[in-house]
Amino acid sequence: MAKEIVLSGIRPTGFLHLGNYFGAVQNYVRMQYEYDCYFFVADLHSLTTHPDTKSLRQNVHRLLGELLASGLDPDQAVIYVQSDVPEIAELYLYLNMLAYKGELEKTVTFKDKVRQQPQNINAGLLTYPVLQAADILIHRAVKVPVGKDQEQHLEMARNFAERFNHRYGEVLPLPYPFNYGASLTKILSLDGNGKMSKSENQMVTIYLADEDDLIRKKIMKAKTDSGPAVPGMPKPDYIENLFTLMQLVSPAETASAYLQDYENGAIRYGDMKKQLAEDMVAYIKPIREKAKSIENDKEYLTYIIEKGGEKARANAVETIKLVRKAMHLDYV
Ligand code: TYM
Repeated sequence: MAKEIVLSGIRPTGFLHLGNYFGAVQNYVRMQYEYDCYFFVADLHSLTTHPDTKSLRQNVHRLLGELLASGLDPDQAVIYVQSDVPEIAELYLYLNMLAYKGELEKTVTFKDKVRQQPQNINAGLLTYPVLQAADILIHRAVKVPVGKDQEQHLEMARNFAERFNHRYGEVLPLPYPFNYGASLTKILSLDGNGKMSKSENQMVTIYLADEDDLIRKKIMKAKTDSGPAVPGMPKPDYIENLFTLMQLVSPAETASAYLQDYENGAIRYGDMKKQLAEDMVAYIKPIREKAKSIENDKEYLTYIIEKGGEKARANAVETIKLVRKAMHLDYV
């Protein structure tokens, strides 16, 4: 039986952080052995917010280095750069005719960007979810490993696919977000103010590229309080986030011992953060070092980009043929 198709992408707009890693990349690494996987660098999406392309090449190479260092294997998954597959742009054009201004304007990420960059509210920003839908539908993917922040984009992708199928015939399967855990992941920033993100305050975001001492410093500064007023009371978000991180990088016994301390009202956050910092350093260091060496191996990167691009394109061409046929855009 054919394996289910999986697709996901990341924008090359900065160093990968723990949110990207635990919300998305860690799932990719596991999924590549179980599904037919496509993972890509979303360079076209980055143009909606980063029109200056001078450092794009370096950013794309770095992101590929980080993905490969995290365990993505080009023999298991197709790894490629979005702009190497022009069929995505073609499908984007068709889907744009099925996407309505009102719904695009209501998208949470669009409203956020309007606030962040009022001087550059371009049409690409408005139709960002349409391009994302094209990324997914071009491979007829059904599972999309993403963090919680992408839920709405996935819902829109399903809407566009349904409209296409309704109008032109069943061509595009409906894609759903995926996470191995019970729910999609959201890693908060270390000050507890919203999600960890690539571009906001760098001292509250831990990047895979951070040096050991910087990781320690950031974790020791993470927001805590004087402990639970009543033993076992529900944890505030920023405390829950520290426990989440600990469960992700520390041995299970360590995390459960601190959890027990919390339940008993005997938690010492200073000690917990010291432990978390050391476990985080041990977790990140090998990824950081490997990523650096891959990023500098231009020959290997060229091989990855070319090989992945070819495979992704071959599959995309098949979908575009079906799409054009369904739309009666075939004249000979
Ligand atoms: P991007 O580049 O912002 O983020 C890449 C992935 O990281 C996840 N993520 C998080 N997960 C948990 N906690 C966080 N704090 C956190 N921050 C980021 C994101 O959910 C995402 O999975 N629009 C996408 C890129 C994209 C895409 C696609 C994804 C373009 N086309 C097609 C899937 C399918 C984005 O901006 O991700």
